[in-house]
Amino acid sequence: MSAKIIDGKKIAAATLANIKENLTASGYVPKLAIILVGNDDASTIYVRNKQKSAVTAGIATELYHLADTTSQEEILELLDKCNQDSSINGIIVQLPLPAHLNTNEIINRISPLKDVDGFHPYNTGLLHNNEEPYFVAATPLGIMTMLKTVIKNLSGKNVVLIGASLIVGRPLATLLLNQECTVTITHIHTKNIKDLTSKADVLVAACGVANMVKKDWIKNDAILIDVGINRENGKLCGDIDFADVKEKAFAITPVPGGVGPMTVAMLLQNTYRAYLLQHDML
Ligand code: GUN
Repeated sequence: MSAKIIDGKKIAAATLANIKENLTASGYVPKLAIILVGNDDASTIYVRNKQKSAVTAGIATELYHLADTTSQEEILELLDKCNQDSSINGIIVQLPLPAHLNTNEIINRISPLKDVDGFHPYNTGLLHNNEEPYFVAATPLGIMTMLKTVIKNLSGKNVVLIGASLIVGRPLATLLLNQECTVTITHIHTKNIKDLTSKADVLVAACGVANMVKKDWIKNDAILIDVGINRENGKLCGDIDFADVKEKAFAITPVPGGVGPMTVAMLLQNTYRAYLLQHDML
């Protein structure tokens, strides 16, 4: 039987509609500041998607599109200004940043109460300690939401992640551990990776290699989450070879239309949450 498709686009659309409904009823208009440095093609597309979905959700955005020669000091000054501006509820700095910039110092300068990407050590630290952070990173949050549509109880499940990034692998591993999963994080130095992935009840691929995961990498009836967005022969594809695995898996997220739209929806949900937190309504 063909795998169940986990329709991220549909869940994301429902999330945005729900935010919009709440905001319309309350009359609030949260604002998200987006800082984009340089003209990286992928980042420009992601930022455009975030702005477009913000309109759908009834959230305002303010884009600071800075030259790729912008200095560290200039970005830190802009962040100080956004932190102090009470009309701004959420702040994100689109990553990756140009090589001359110190990403950690920049992320650490965002107020944890406006850190809607959930990357600030205050927020990741609380997550690590299994306490409730102000914000959890959008991609892992979207993945947890999608997993809940196909699996009721994650306790004891064997989950294997491919990729240990700050944005996806690490926070997702913590969220899954907090849900009592047995989590294995694999990365570029992992030996015999197939031995690990083929035992996974849930496999999350976030390695950025087009169609890397084939059917001999997975267990029968595995749940597959594909975080990859790659372009091959002019066509978008994930890190999992969809056509190859679809008869063996139980469920899979498509690319496009899976993790991507969920990430944007969760960012906007976090921005709405930021507004409520800052107005003592949570
Ligand atoms: N680059 C890739 N994913 C993300 C994300 O979720 N947030 C930010 N700020 N940059 C990214």
